[in-house]
Amino acid sequence: MNVLIIGSGGREHALAHSISKSPLLDTLVVSPGNPGIAEIAKCVDCPDEPALFSLIESAHIDLVVIGPEAPLVDGLADRLRAKDIMVFGPSQQAAMLEGSKAFARDFCDRHNIPQPEWHRFDNSADACAYIRGHAADGHVIKADGLAAGKGVVVADTKDEAIAAITSMLDDQQFGHASTSILIEERITGVEASLFAIADGDDAMMIGTAQDYKRVGDGDTGPNTGGMGAVSPAPALDDRLCETAWQDIVEKVIKGMKADHMPYQGFLYTGLMMTANGPKVIEFNCRFGDPEAEVILPRLQSDLLTTLLAACSSDPSSSNFKDMDLKFHDGAAVTVIMVNRGYPGAIKAGGVINGLKRDDADTDAALVFHAGTGKKGDDIIATGGRVLAVTALGSDQADARTKAYQHVKKISWPGVYYRKDIAK
Ligand code: AMP
Ligand code: GLY
Repeated sequence: MNVLIIGSGGREHALAHSISKSPLLDTLVVSPGNPGIAEIAKCVDCPDEPALFSLIESAHIDLVVIGPEAPLVDGLADRLRAKDIMVFGPSQQAAMLEGSKAFARDFCDRHNIPQPEWHRFDNSADACAYIRGHAADGHVIKADGLAAGKGVVVADTKDEAIAAITSMLDDQQFGHASTSILIEERITGVEASLFAIADGDDAMMIGTAQDYKRVGDGDTGPNTGGMGAVSPAPALDDRLCETAWQDIVEKVIKGMKADHMPYQGFLYTGLMMTANGPKVIEFNCRFGDPEAEVILPRLQSDLLTTLLAACSSDPSSSNFKDMDLKFHDGAAVTVIMVNRGYPGAIKAGGVINGLKRDDADTDAALVFHAGTGKKGDDIIATGGRVLAVTALGSDQADARTKAYQHVKKISWPGVYYRKDIAK
């Protein structure tokens, strides 16, 4: 098979790494990819969609795997399927689970899926009146649409809530994405994420993870795309995992089918373990980043076989019948190395040292590229998030030690990483 992955980050490098090991694979193409991915796949930059369609034709692509949310929410999977191209990734309608937070909350209410209380507002006078009318402080204000992970404000006070409401609704802080907002009850508990591969009818669990969102040690400083992660998620023991799977993931897959939007692709469920059990914080219509970098290395079964099963449209039986995914039974830890200043302004372009590895390193750790570029023969740090260093271990402590041992071998001017991932 010839496979095309769309995307350029650490998640796509981890997907490419797993797919490249498949016995079913002939050629792997990634668009646009990055210098790390270029070591295991052919990278082609497609400036527009016609160029992408030409690439699919000229490279005889049999399966397209879409990594990021933006093209999914924009309906790329539907446009590919309309041309009879096999795609792993949800339709535009199904991707609304991430594309509109109000859509996802409405859906959960309809299907009795546990979540915080919520209200939707289109004008700031009503939204502010709602906040002022509440005795208790502590609300979460969310832009309805995609806001690059920045559209959520957890407000401690009414003043903070009102400031967030006015900047989203009146000042259109996130443009079209904040023409409507949600005000949610603020729930408390430990957060963890559950990842599923769905075929429209059914789903299989691919792993759990906990990510570290704040930039600084001890969970301080601004939120980021993720500074590291651990899998399995310590907060999701077997019992909680089973509860979350039955009460949430299975209901989502059944509900989407019943609502005529069958969900095929990765489903990322962000959960909070409350005193009343797991509740949905958010859905994403794709794999997480850095969660893919920490979960996929634990998968011992062939990823490509699993993706193909999810794409098969045999209505007579579950595509996943008789499939049993096997996982490394220890733990994995990934540490994200960033350019100092991230998630704010960064000075990019430092030459990265320590990327050349010997065989012992290859066994000990995997280095996924997120924001790198090439300058002559050098690899340079171009992004906010630059590298994801993942290690497997017999347990979390062992994986953590191995990941940091490898992180210390890599450096560039302006490198920064958290020292307490998985501690
Ligand atoms: P989201 O982008 O929806 O995942 O939200 C970003 C972060 O905001 C989450 O990881 C939570 O830490 C927090 N958050 C979102 N919704 C709630 C809620 N209803 N109650 C408490 N915290 C929340
Ligand atoms: N790590 C969070 C995300 O992928 O959305």
